[in-house]
Amino acid sequence: MFRIESKIDTSSPEFAKNKEEYKKVLNAYRQVLEKVREGGSEQAVKKHKERGKLLARERIDLLVDRNTPFLELSALAAYDLYNNEFPSAGVITGIGVIHGKEVMIVANDATVKGGTYMAEGIKKHIRAQEIAMENRLPCVYLVDSGGVFLTEQDKVFPDKYNFGRFFFNQARLSAKKIPQIAVVMGSCTAGGAYVPAMSDETIIVRKQGTIFIGGPPLVKAATGEEVTAEELGGADVHTSISGVADHLAMNDVHAIQICRNIFETISRQEFQELPMEPVQEPFYPADDLYGILPLDLKKPVDSREIIARIVDGSLFHEFKDRYAPTIVTGFAHIMGYPIGIIANNGVLFGETALKGAHFVELCTSRNVPILFMQNITGFIVGKQYERAGIARDGAKFVHAVANANVPKFTVIFGGSFGAGNYAMAGRAYEPRFLWMYPNSKISVMGGEQAANVLITVKEDQLKAQGKSLSADEREKMLKTILQKYEHEGSAYYSTARLWDDGIIDPVDTRRMLAMAIAVSLNKKYEKTEYGVFRM
Ligand code: COA
Repeated sequence: MFRIESKIDTSSPEFAKNKEEYKKVLNAYRQVLEKVREGGSEQAVKKHKERGKLLARERIDLLVDRNTPFLELSALAAYDLYNNEFPSAGVITGIGVIHGKEVMIVANDATVKGGTYMAEGIKKHIRAQEIAMENRLPCVYLVDSGGVFLTEQDKVFPDKYNFGRFFFNQARLSAKKIPQIAVVMGSCTAGGAYVPAMSDETIIVRKQGTIFIGGPPLVKAATGEEVTAEELGGADVHTSISGVADHLAMNDVHAIQICRNIFETISRQEFQELPMEPVQEPFYPADDLYGILPLDLKKPVDSREIIARIVDGSLFHEFKDRYAPTIVTGFAHIMGYPIGIIANNGVLFGETALKGAHFVELCTSRNVPILFMQNITGFIVGKQYERAGIARDGAKFVHAVANANVPKFTVIFGGSFGAGNYAMAGRAYEPRFLWMYPNSKISVMGGEQAANVLITVKEDQLKAQGKSLSADEREKMLKTILQKYEHEGSAYYSTARLWDDGIIDPVDTRRMLAMAIAVSLNKKYEKTEYGVFRM
C-alpha cells in the first residue's frame, strides 16, 4: 500500500481559520453533551442519591471492565425536544466490555421522569437491541423505570416498534442464544415488568427493586386490596416466592458484582476471523481534521485527506484512482483490521455509481467490512445524464450496497443529501453504525434546491390561474424554506430523532470504527447474494 500524500498546507492561514472555526462548532457540541450527561434535574439527582442508588452512568462505570472504552450511542437523543426534559431520552445505551466480552448495556436514568419511556426512548432501546442482534451481543438491562410515559401513550404503546417490541426482541435474542440479563435497581412497572421476566437471568436489589404488573394504587383501585410495593413485588418476594428474579442483591454495587459474575459463565458463540496487520498510527495527525472538514458544504474537500488521518500509517491501496474521480475507493487498515473505504469526492455520476458498485462487490467477495464516508449532494441531474441512464447506474450502486452482507459503517463528514444518502449506506441501508460529525447536514436535498423546487412549483400553479408570485412573496417563501432546511438538516436535529447513532468528535473516528469492527466479529459475516442488476 502507498501512503497518501497530503496536499494540505497545515501552516496556511486558511487551514488555521478553518481549525479555529471548527473548534467553536466542536465546543458547542461538547457543552451540549456535558449538560445532557448531568441527567435529570438537580433535585431528582439528589432524591435518587438519597435513596442510596447510584446514577445510571455510575452503574455502567462499575459494570464494565476497568480501563476499557464504553461506546455510548445516541447520547443526544431527544435533544431540544420536550423542553429538554428528557436528557439522552431517559435511557443510556452503549457497548461496554465485561470480562473481556463486548456487551450491549441499556440503563434507565430514573432521574429523568422516573426513567419512563417516550417515543425517542423507545426507539433508542429498540436500536440497542437491533445492534445486539446484528452483532450477537449479550444484553444487560439496568432497570429503573416507571414504564411508558403515560402522557404520550398514543406514541409509545400500540405500534410495531413501540414498547411491546422490547419483549419481542428479548425473546428473539434469547432464542438466538444471545444472553439477556436484567438487573432490577428500581421500578419495573406494568409492561416494564416483562424486562426482568423475559430475561434469561435476573438480579434484584433488596428494598429498592420492585416488579409488578400493577402497582399498589392500581391494585387498590381494581380490587380494593391494600398492599405495599415491597409486599407486592419486592426483592424478597420475587427471589423466594414468585421466582420472577433469580439473585438477591443487597445494593447497587452488589447487584453489579453478581451481574459481572454471570459473565464469567458466558462464552462467545461465534467469531469472525479477519486477517490482521500490526497496528500503526496514521502518519498525519488526527486533529488536522479540524482544519480540513468543510464548514461551508460548498467547499470541496478531497476525502483522501480525511482517510489519511484515520487509517493505519495513512496507507491506502486505491482502486480505480484514474476513473470516476468523484468517488474514492480503496483498501486500508484501521487499528489492524482490514477495511474497504468508499468516500465521496463530489457529485455522483453514472460511472461513479458503477465504480462504487464494483468496489462493493470486491469487498463482499473478499469478506472485508466497508466504511462509507459521506459528503454527498446527490446524483447528477440533467437531460444528458437521464438519457445516459443515471437512474439505471445509480440503481446498481444502491442494489450492491443494500445486499452487501459484510458489516457496513457510515460516517457523515459533510452533507448527506438525496439518493446519495441511500447509495452511500444511509440509515435505511442498515450500516452497523452510523455517525455524524457536528458540522454535517442531512436532508432530502439542500435548502436552496428545495426552495427553488417549491417556488417553481408554486409559480407554475399560479401561472395556470393567470397569477404570479410577487417579489416579496417569493422572498418570504425562500427565507422560510431555507430556515426550515437549515434547522431540520442539522446533525442535532438528526441525532435527537435517532436517524444516526450519535454525533462524534472527528478525532475519535478511528477509535470508534476500530471498536465497531471488533464488535462486528462476534457474528460470522453472512454470504452476500445479489439480485438483478439493471444493465
Ligand atoms: N408516565 C408519565 N410520567 C411519569 C410516569 C409515567 N408512567 N411515572 C412518573 N412520571 C413522572 C412524574 O410525574 C414526575 O414528573 P415531574 O418531574 O415533571 O414532576 C417524574 O416522572 C418523577 O416521578 P416521581 O414519582 O416524582 O419520582 P419517583 O422517583 O419518586 O418515582 C416512579 C418514580 C416511576 C416509581 C413513580 O413515579 C411511579 O410509580 N410511576 C408510575 C408508574 C406506572 O404506573 N407506570 C405504568 C406505565 S405502563
